[in-house]
Amino acid sequence: MNPALQLRDVSVSYGGKGLALEGVNLTIPKGGVVALLGANGAGKTTLIRAVSGLLALHNGQITGGSIHMDGQSIMGLPAHKLVRMGMGQVPEGRLVFKQLSVEDNLRVGAAVLPKASEKRRLDAVYELFPRLLERRTQAAGWLSGGEQQMLALGRALVTEPRLLLVDELSLGLAPLIVSAIYKQLQKVGQTLGASILVVEQNAHLALNFASTAYVLERGRIALSGTASEVAASDLVRESYLGAAREGVKT
Ligand SMILES: Nc1ncnc2c1ncn2[C@@H]1O[C@H](COP(=O)(O)OP(=O)(O)OP(=O)(O)O)[C@@H](O)[C@H]1O
Ligand SMILES: [Mg+2]
Repeated sequence: MNPALQLRDVSVSYGGKGLALEGVNLTIPKGGVVALLGANGAGKTTLIRAVSGLLALHNGQITGGSIHMDGQSIMGLPAHKLVRMGMGQVPEGRLVFKQLSVEDNLRVGAAVLPKASEKRRLDAVYELFPRLLERRTQAAGWLSGGEQQMLALGRALVTEPRLLLVDELSLGLAPLIVSAIYKQLQKVGQTLGASILVVEQNAHLALNFASTAYVLERGRIALSGTASEVAASDLVRESYLGAAREGVKT
């Protein structure tokens, strides 16, 4: 069976200056949940941009390697095509349309698929996040940060993705909200059978959620393995889980 996503030896450069990613190998098995960890500027968002066809928008380009989704090369394919192929993305910083209503935000996401199934797909999102149903007609800009994150996730889910890429879901949100959203994300993975890549600075969270994990350092994969292997590694315990500093074993 082909993996949901496979990056082989992928390198990326912005404006031809240096490499933001260098020889990156990463595999998401079908139905798998994979975490990508790394400090600020490590290249996590760059990896997601490379996969989702959004690098050019940021003056970046893939300078080497290959990317396959379900066994098919997706390099050079535009973002809208990838969405139709079953790739969903929750971008860093949420990026909801603040002036549009909650429902119109979802409709924008839904529009790449046939109208006939739109209501069913919207209802599925509302079932997952009843808060969005309550606020359906409100401008997205009025939502709380947590609700905006639900909306950003809902906008990706409304296309019923087989592969979901989520960038820094937890950023700036209260822990309770974050765990509620992650719980729903887990449910989505199970019900849709979607494969999921979560990018996180919060290593605790990501390693609890995912079954495999990769650590990016300065554009290179420094470490990978099962989530428990990665959690137990000195690198992650010291740099990402704060174990050495606090003297606790996690
Ligand atoms: N549009 C751009 N033009 C030039 N360089 C960029 C651009 N976007 C990112 N970079 C550089 O590429 C490297 C990786 O950045 P990236 O945003 O992928 O990191 P990240 O791991 O997502 O960080 P963070 O945790 O802060 O979101 C950094 O050195 C960054 O300065
Ligand atoms: Mg980032």
